[in-house]
Amino acid sequence: MAGAVSAGGDGWSSRTAFVLAAIGSAVGLGNLVRFPAEAGANGGGAFVIFYIFCVLLIGLPILLSETVIGRHGQASAVESMKRVAIESRASTWWSLVAGIGMCGAFLVLAYYSVLAGWIVHYIGVFAGDFFSAVGASAPARGALHGFSVDEVQAILPALHANSREMIAMHAIFMVLTIIAVGRGVSSGIEKVAVWLMPTFFFLLIAITIYGAFTGSFAAALAFLFDFEPARLLDPAVQLSALGQALFSLSLGSALMVTYGAYAARDINLAKTSAQIATADTSVAIIAGLAIFPITFSVLAPASLSAILDGQEQVQGGLGLLFVNLPVAFQTMPAGSLIGLLFFIMVFFAALTSAVALLEASVSWAIGRFKQPRWLVSILLGGLAFLIGAWASFSFNSQADFHPFDFMIFSGQPVFGIIDELTAKILLPTSALLLSIFVGWIADRRLIDSENGLDGNLHRIWLFLVRWLCPLVISAILLTGLFPGILGQG
Ligand code: PHE
Repeated sequence: MAGAVSAGGDGWSSRTAFVLAAIGSAVGLGNLVRFPAEAGANGGGAFVIFYIFCVLLIGLPILLSETVIGRHGQASAVESMKRVAIESRASTWWSLVAGIGMCGAFLVLAYYSVLAGWIVHYIGVFAGDFFSAVGASAPARGALHGFSVDEVQAILPALHANSREMIAMHAIFMVLTIIAVGRGVSSGIEKVAVWLMPTFFFLLIAITIYGAFTGSFAAALAFLFDFEPARLLDPAVQLSALGQALFSLSLGSALMVTYGAYAARDINLAKTSAQIATADTSVAIIAGLAIFPITFSVLAPASLSAILDGQEQVQGGLGLLFVNLPVAFQTMPAGSLIGLLFFIMVFFAALTSAVALLEASVSWAIGRFKQPRWLVSILLGGLAFLIGAWASFSFNSQADFHPFDFMIFSGQPVFGIIDELTAKILLPTSALLLSIFVGWIADRRLIDSENGLDGNLHRIWLFLVRWLCPLVISAILLTGLFPGILGQG
């Protein structure tokens, strides 16, 4: 099957490549770090149920809408929105919606790469420990042999205090991202996804089976699926679940529009969207079923909730992945090997997402400034690197550097602010406006010729995009950002 010939003649070489690249973009630190952390901080089961509701009824219809616009526009997200608006005789200002998303994606990239740099650091720590243990023929039991529990707990604070190391790792990761994007859609982005995603799935399943046998699987199941019904109505839980669903599916970030533009005409977008959403949601839940059993083998679920509920951890409960989980590995059989594989797996997922985050703005800049892809990738990647490096310092002075002390941001360092600003404001706003555009403004025939839906499915999709998405997203945005509206503030 021929690839799309949009965007300078480059495009996915096959349907599988498109699906894998889109899943690669969706599956990332959002599934492996953000999802478990948000679930932990927002009452476990209640969050998970609301999250699944958001994926099915809001995420999936918007995912389809985004790819439809991209494929019709055959250009960067901003340009595609503009073309669809022009063909629909609507204002070209609608392209701003994609612009908001693109800026969101760019900001996400800045801190995403910092976090991925931590992963690179942990790969180094676990690899060092594993290979020194192999060399010294140490007993198979007991991971991180060279470390005591206290020392494992000190890895992250030591990294936080060492900005130079943190920024160096962030640089390594950003360079890899730039190389993949610089090589282009079919010879860079697609190759990374086609090689890394299958390996990722294999590792995820292997580690989940390991966790099920060696960890506390029952406690993890209870944690992820038991819930107090009252928490389902908590606006903060709802906003977190909505933000997470959009973030995890890479929506409201111009990305799926961008990737849709590289898709060939004969690809059924409804079917691919369903596959992408299913894969992403399964990975989030399976990741929970890998991470929590291992963590709960040394830490009671109640203690974890208490830690995650604390203000300090709102920025993604990073401690779960970078402290609690390694401590658990420290005590488990073959833990340094499994820990090493775990962080390699997270690294693969992070790279395929970072590539997508950068591509969202690179494809726009190539079209806008008519400059070569390599140059644009280096410049934009370099700028995101600088913002991330600046944000990295917020860990060094976490206690007293709170420049934006209001609303949901209060008490957070820069890093957490970027995360909240993007996932809980920019992405939902962009997704909200996009659903209004596709549901009400864009030419019906144009949209229907791309979406691959008919009959009842088409009616349901239209209802969701026209009514449910705009209403639910605006209600959640308002009540989540201003809890006082419901008199609960
Ligand atoms: N969906 C990715 C994740 O879950 C993050 C991402 C957001 C990637 C937006 C691209 C665009 O980690």
